[in-house]
Order: sequence, then structure tokens, then C-alpha cells
Amino acid sequence: MMEDADKKKGGYQVMALKWRPSTFAEVVGQQHIVRSLSNAIKLNRIAGAYLFCGTRGVGKTSMARIFSRSINCESGPTTTPCGKCRNCAEIADGNSMDVVEIDGASNNGVDNIREIRDHLQYAPVKCRMKIYIIDEVHMLSPAAFNAFLKTLEEPPPHTVFIMATTEQSKLPDTVLSRCQVFEFRALSDQEIAGRLQKIIDSDGIRITPGAVMMIARRAEGSMRDAQSLLDQAASYAAESIDEELLGMVLGLVSREKIWAVLGAVTRKEVDGTLHQLHDLYYAGFEVGVILRELFEAVRALTIVKVSNAPEKILKETGDALAAMKQLVEGVTPGRLQQYYDILLRAKSQAATAGNPLSVLEMALIKMVRLDDVIPVAELVERLKGMPAAAPQPQASAAAPRFVPPSAPPRPATSGARQPAPSQNYDAPPPAAAPAAPAAGDPWEAVRAVIKEKKPLLAASLDKMVFSMEAGRAVLGYPEDQSFIRDQCEQNRALIEEALQAATGRRLAVVFNAAPKAMLKETQVKKPAMDTAMRRQMLNEPIIQKAVDLFDGTPGFEEER
Ligand SMILES: Nc1ncnc2c1ncn2[C@@H]1O[C@H](COP(=O)(O)OP(=O)(O)O)[C@@H](O)[C@H]1O
Ligand SMILES: [Mg+2]
Ligand SMILES: [Zn+2]
Repeated sequence: MMEDADKKKGGYQVMALKWRPSTFAEVVGQQHIVRSLSNAIKLNRIAGAYLFCGTRGVGKTSMARIFSRSINCESGPTTTPCGKCRNCAEIADGNSMDVVEIDGASNNGVDNIREIRDHLQYAPVKCRMKIYIIDEVHMLSPAAFNAFLKTLEEPPPHTVFIMATTEQSKLPDTVLSRCQVFEFRALSDQEIAGRLQKIIDSDGIRITPGAVMMIARRAEGSMRDAQSLLDQAASYAAESIDEELLGMVLGLVSREKIWAVLGAVTRKEVDGTLHQLHDLYYAGFEVGVILRELFEAVRALTIVKVSNAPEKILKETGDALAAMKQLVEGVTPGRLQQYYDILLRAKSQAATAGNPLSVLEMALIKMVRLDDVIPVAELVERLKGMPAAAPQPQASAAAPRFVPPSAPPRPATSGARQPAPSQNYDAPPPAAAPAAPAAGDPWEAVRAVIKEKKPLLAASLDKMVFSMEAGRAVLGYPEDQSFIRDQCEQNRALIEEALQAATGRRLAVVFNAAPKAMLKETQVKKPAMDTAMRRQMLNEPIIQKAVDLFDGTPGFEEER
């Protein structure tokens, strides 16, 4: 039942278990909980039931075991259990008769709870108290919960329940109200990095401080995740681990590299931007990964730009925040928003494009050259021969810029640029407005191919909306025209083949009834069907059947 004993693989113990804290002092963070539980021991006021809530890998199970030992150590009760006596050792090994760990996820039935209740009747064998640690308690079935509640209502003396859950909201109030609830916090990057450093020093792992921070950040508050990442990196690399290597092993991009890309963008260096991008790409990072990191960075930079207290929102060191502030110094929030929008569009295009790298390249070039695009409002003003209402963004010397001959002389601005009125935060970014060019649209290509072979099917495809989701091609058909779905279903192989030709990927096709409103928005008006197609359509068996059924004359609406 206890994981520590189980997971030792041939002498090698995974880092997360080897480094499980065994005393309150070793627990990182969670000081509020350490204090309360220590006080309970000191004052001998131990409650009948505790609930430990919090995300994975933040110390719930570890704390439950430390508390159990504190209560039951032969030289206790004590806030510093010895770790050596028989009780301490048995609890650590999972062999204790009196401290029982139950995984709620796999023992979630009534029978399991009945078993506990039978077990409860007996006094502790060797320990002071019987302790039941129920992990993932939210997984108990409703029947099991009810059985368990009875026990919680009248707990036998010398019994402590410690329940742990990652999903407090799934627990009934009846349970919550009977427990002392402790909320475990996600650990900060600094707390995680500090602990990793101890492990690194003790195990003699060679790794750069930057790489340690990279792991800490990626673990998102979970010490267990951080330790597993470090474990993976250490077992992969004999030599010293730096950010670059870590990137390769764990698929993590170093943030400095991402900042370098964005830095070149903000400085409007086309070559520099592409150079930084290619560095990453040819180091083995997929476009999807780079895009994700760019997104994350632009989000963080936006927060740094607009928030008065970014340190409260972002888990960042002072150094990192300073670096980010510097990066966005001359960039307006509106511009960051435009970056975000361009990346967003690139993301959906890259998913279907045959060459995603070129999609990202074009997106970054667009970001660099945003100033080349003149806001429509400004253009209108200029055409009217009037000066624009506000100072306009000035193009950098390097970027060529289209200026109509009638343009009035413009004041040179320095430092932070003021966004033009039409370019403010809320307005749609003018540079990014046009949708994907039809030439690159895979759905367009599919329909073209199919039109050659089956014009009728192609006509149906025209009525559908196409999207890509998680490696699948989702075809939305008008909800009141399910025959389109049937028709496509019969021609599935053909459609899949055409999709593969257009996207270079084998995609599973799924159908989806789309509400009319949605189709109207996205559907482009098609020219009327040509006569050949109409003739073919009228000869289709299904139409013939309908004609027979309704005893009508086939024809087309516009012709009547
Ligand atoms: N607060 C913490 N301090 C030190 N190590 C921790 C902490 N939280 C988790 N760990 C590490 O992660 C591993 C798993 O922690 P665990 O207590 O089982 O987390 P949880 O039960 O919250 O999922 C531990 O063995 C330990 O190495
Ligand atoms: Mg746990
Ligand atoms: Zn002991």
C-alpha cells in the first residue's frame, strides 16, 4: 500500500521518494500547516479527522506520515520523531499494523470502508493511536462515503483519520464539516529551486543554476514534478546539465532564447529575429513548442507591462522581472496584444500547414514589421489632406515604410511610442486583420481535389466548416442536414486521402453537427452550381427516391 517500498527499482530509488521529507523541519513551505500540527502534538490536542487539500506533489502524503510518526514514535509524542524506533521504521516502510494507508482511488467501494470499520474496533497494537491515511479521498464511491461518514460521526477513541485530496470541491460538506481542513499551497519557484539545490549538492549532480530555475519553473509548484524532471535530466546526461541540454532532454525551451526572439522583434530586426528562431528550430524544437513558449512569454510580458504588481501574478524572481521589464520598455500594451493575436493566428495555421516553420517565420516577420502597416483611419485622414489627430508611430530607420506622397511632415518621436487612436488596445489590429490566404487553406485544397472526382460531394463539403483539433479534422455540417454527414461518411476514405494530401498528415475525420448560426458566419457565399453538377445531382439515387416519395418534379429553388 505504501508507495516508497514499492517503487524502489533494483536498488535505484527515484529521487522524489528518496527525498521525501521525514521530519517537519525538512518540509519545504507549508509552514502554516507545520505550525498547527506541531502545536497539536505539543498541546496534545489531536483531532479525530484531518483533510489535506492541494495539488499533486506539494507534501500531503509526506506530511501525513510525519504527523503519524510524531504521534506514534516510541520516544513521543514529539515534533521530532526519531526515525529509528520500530514504530517510526514500520510507518516509513508501510508495515505498521496501526498506521494504514489506503488509496481511495483503487479502494473506493463500500466493502473497503466496511473493512476499515471492522479494523477500527481493535485497539492499536503497538502504537499510541491508530491512524488511517486515505489518499485521493474524493474518489470514494457515494456508498463508500456514506459508510465512511458514520465512522467519522462517532470515531472510536485512539483513532485519527488523515484524508488527502487534490479536489476538495468534490467532497460533500458533510465530510468537510467534520474535518480540520489544511490547504497545501503550490510551492514557489524559489522554494523548489532551493530544495533541488540540496539534492544536487548531496548527489553530486552537475547542473547550471539557470537549468535549475528552468526545472523549477516548469514544475509549476509541484516538488514531485520538479524532482522527476531533475531525475530524468540527471539519468540522461553524464556531463554537466545546462539549459540547452535540458531543453533537448525534456523538451523545454530556455526562456532566454525565447526572449532573444522577442527582443529582436521589438528592435525590429528581421534578420535577427529569423536567426534566433532558426537557432531554436535547428536545435530540435518543434514549431508547436516554440509557439507555446512565445505565447507564454508574450502573456508574461503583457502582465509585466500593464500590472502594478506583476510579482504577485507571475512566479518570477526579481532578476527575471527586471529582464522582462527591460525587454518591453519601448513596447506598448497594444503592440503586445497585436503580437499575441498574430501568434494566435499562426498557431491555428501552423497546425494544418505543410510547413509550419514558414508559418511561424511569416508571423514573426509580420510582428517585426507592424509599423509598416498604416492604420486605415490614418490613411483616410491623409487622403482627406488633413493631418492625423494624434502623433503616429514612427517607423524605425531600418524598416521601409509606405508613405503616401501627400503625407504631412511628421514629428519625430523618441522613447516609448504612443499608439495611434485606431491602434489602441481594444481595436482590432489592422496589420493582422486579413484571414489566412485561400491558397494555403487545406480545406480549400480538399474541396478542389474532390470537386474533380465527385462534384456533388464537393457541393456538400462547401456547406461544412472545417477545423483542426488535436490531430483530428473536425467537419461541422448543418445540424438540420444530417444527410451531408451520411454522404461524407460513405466517402470517408476519399476525404481522408484528400486531407492527407493537403496537410501532409493522416488525420482522423470526425463529424459534428453545427448550429446554423455558426455556419452562416463562416460560410462563404458560393456561386450557383453549374448545370453539369445539377444534372448529376438530379440523377442521384437518393434524390430519385425523394422525388418518388414526394411525387414531385425535381428542380432548384432559384429556378422556380
Ligand atoms: N513540501 C515539500 N517539501 C519537500 N519535499 C516535498 C514537498 N512536497 C513534495 N515533496 C517531494 O515530492 C514527493 C511527493 O510528495 P507527496 O508528499 O507524496 O505529495 P502529495 O501527497 O501532495 O502529492 C516527496 O517524496 C518529496 O520528495
Ligand atoms: Mg500523495
Ligand atoms: Zn521513533
